Amino acid sequence: MMIDTACSRAIQEAYDDRYAIPAFNFWNIESVQAFVDAAEKEHSPVILSAHESLWDVVSLESYSALVRAAAKRATVPVFLHLDHGSTVEVVATCIRAGFDSVMIDGASLSLSRNVETTRKVVEMARAGSVLVEGAIGKTQGRHTKRIEPFKTDPKSVQYFVPRTTVDLLAVSVGNVSGTPDGKSRLDMDLLERIAQASPVPLVLHGGTGVPDKEARRAISLGVCKINIGTIMFRTYLREVVKVLRTERFEGAPSSSAMDLLFAKRRTKSSLEQVARRKMKTFGSSGKA
Ligand code: 13P
Repeated sequence: MMIDTACSRAIQEAYDDRYAIPAFNFWNIESVQAFVDAAEKEHSPVILSAHESLWDVVSLESYSALVRAAAKRATVPVFLHLDHGSTVEVVATCIRAGFDSVMIDGASLSLSRNVETTRKVVEMARAGSVLVEGAIGKTQGRHTKRIEPFKTDPKSVQYFVPRTTVDLLAVSVGNVSGTPDGKSRLDMDLLERIAQASPVPLVLHGGTGVPDKEARRAISLGVCKINIGTIMFRTYLREVVKVLRTERFEGAPSSSAMDLLFAKRRTKSSLEQVARRKMKTFGSSGKA
């Protein structure tokens, strides 16, 4: 049974009302603020997704404090989530650091090992009132030639969910991480069968590639969280490159602090626009 927290209530509401809360991968202060400001303007709940690779450079505790400070100031629900947690230890660290929800990604393990690992995480997370997202079927990267063998088997879903008691389930139905905007094709028949087999809300990774129309159909079937990364990384980098190429820099041996500030504003404003568009598409606008 789901724990009762602000995050669990937000997920349940999204599932019941058939909209999806966007989970944006963040990496710096501007990206956090862009997603929170987008949520404020759209009156939408929002999930900020931290990937383990982030804390190579900045500590997990610093990221957590950053998001919690932004969430405290916000007038809409802002949740901190662990994306693709690889081990029980990583998840434990995130629970201690105050995350609202965690993903344990056991999709590459055998089904029985996946059940065992996820079950362990669920027991730990329950004690800390943290939601758990499990995974059946590995979401592939865009260079994978055949994604068919990695798609989620509805029978495994029936086996996995009651044994682990996860709160959310990430599935693989043609969604491919790193795909350019709107270029993935979802297997809707499979998603429908999975939704029938799953007693818990579903999650789609690889959200950048999912076309708007397919996202809306997936949401109507029970997807209530969609992860978005690539379009944000590209938007950010494209803006930085654009700023570097403007006349402001011609003849300058190095960028000045003013130019840097200009880039910070430009990147933040573009990220905010993309985030608002996704909230409108996923139907979360106006829900907070
Ligand atoms: P994209 O980068 O393809 O949007 O996917 C993000 C994701 O799935 C993070 O878990």
